[in-house]
Formats: sequence, C-alpha cells, structure tokens
Amino acid sequence: MPVEFDRMLAALFEEEDQARSMARTLMDEARTSVAAAAAERTRLLAFMQGPLENHMVYEEDFIFPLLKDHGLEAEVAVCGKHHRRLRELRQALGATERPEEIAPIIFETARLMLHHTNFEGDYIYPELSRDQWRALMRQTRELEKERASQVGLAEPPTDE
Ligand SMILES: [Fe+2]
Ligand SMILES: [Fe+2]
Repeated sequence: MPVEFDRMLAALFEEEDQARSMARTLMDEARTSVAAAAAERTRLLAFMQGPLENHMVYEEDFIFPLLKDHGLEAEVAVCGKHHRRLRELRQALGATERPEEIAPIIFETARLMLHHTNFEGDYIYPELSRDQWRALMRQTRELEKERASQVGLAEPPTDE
C-alpha cells in the first residue's frame, strides 16, 4: 500500500522537475534571441494550459489545504501568489503574437517557474517527513475519492 503513495509523491516531484527543466531551456532561449524565444510560444502555452495548470489545480485543491493543517499557511499564501501570476502570464502570452512582446513574457514566466519550484522545494517539501508526505498522499487520495463520488465520477484507479 505505501507503494501507491510513494508513486503519487514521485509523480508530483517529477512534475516539478519537468517545470524546472522547461524553465531553464526557455531562459536560455530568451537570452539567445527574441526570435528564439518567440518560437517557444506555442510549446510553452501548451505546457501552461495542460500539465502546469493541472499541477497547480491539484496542489490548490488537495495539497495546499493539507499543508495549511501542518502550519504552512504563510508558505502556501506565497505559492498562491505565484500560481496567480503564472496564470496572468499565460493569458498575456496567449493574447499576443508579437515577438518583441512574447520574449519578455517568456523570460518572466521561465524565471517565475524556476523560482516557484525552488520555493516549493526549499520551503515546503522539506518541512514534512517522508512519513508525513505518505500520510498526506493518503489523505489526498481520500479527498479525490470523496470528490469523485460527489460529482458522480468513477473513483480514481488504485493498483492495490
Ligand atoms: Fe508544484
Ligand atoms: Fe505550485
């Protein structure tokens, strides 16, 4: 059984790594040239609308409320601010196709994604022990099941 929670935890951290490596690539592109940065617009928008949005919603719906129970209200508030700004940047990016406007948005997005994942990695994740994280993943799974049954969806699959 703990294997399932370890896997959930690993998936969450893997998403962080994905955002971090995307951010590093984008910052390099943005430094290279305006045209290089602009060429990343579609890929970045797809990432922000898909995997990044899903990750943020998952954190906001399940992880953050539980972290608050562990006394991390201030840290969660900072993360909420970062998430809001990332969504504003996504809108701004979606609203322009002018390379000279795209480049600075991409640079700020990349810098914030990097800062945000580092913030979570430095100030939130280490605050909980491995066992506390497992317990939190267990609670998350319970909340997911509850929510799924409320809206009449099938329960998320378990592999026990
Ligand atoms: Fe995160
Ligand atoms: Fe986050």
